[in-house]
Amino acid sequence: MPDPIRIQFVCLGNICRSPLAKVVFRDKVNDAGLEDHFDIVSSGTGNWHVDEKADDRMRKTAQRKGLSLEDHRASQFQAEDLETYDHIFVMDKSNLNDVLHLDEDDEYGGKVRLFREFDPEPDDYQVPDPYHGGREGFQNVYEIVDRTADMLLHRLVDEYDLAEYLEEHGSVEEQEHES
Ligand code: 4NP
Repeated sequence: MPDPIRIQFVCLGNICRSPLAKVVFRDKVNDAGLEDHFDIVSSGTGNWHVDEKADDRMRKTAQRKGLSLEDHRASQFQAEDLETYDHIFVMDKSNLNDVLHLDEDDEYGGKVRLFREFDPEPDDYQVPDPYHGGREGFQNVYEIVDRTADMLLHRLVDEYDLAEYLEEHGSVEEQEHES
């Protein structure tokens, strides 16, 4: 098995958007039977919430969709992550500026992209920050993240030729079906 593809999702506080992106994307990777191929984490550019649980409203939103954020603890994005991770997907343009600011020698810009570049309905290419709003904002973030994560996984399956692996091994669901 080759090294896993290292993915980091980044927002501001790491208690709302990027934790959700992490568990939604992981769930899709698991459903496809590709969990051994990916290492998926999240962080925030700010340090205010480090070690805290995900926002209660986001935890509830995830729970309604059958996903758990209970194990999540917030962490801060570090300059070294630019080297360690293969792909860094940021939630908005402010996150993009903050992450690129840590790339002092302009080495890693090609790894850092707006997550919503993969959204089939990208609007302004940013995942709106739901922190200061109501419950609809959290639901809206879920819908954006869910459809964008689908497309992102398709693109990575193409980029890393994982379709061949899926053909040889079948998805987890197919394997379960056969046994
Ligand atoms: P997140 O949301 O970046 O999606 O985790 C926020 C969480 C906290 C704050 C801002 C955004 N804050 O200002 O504390």
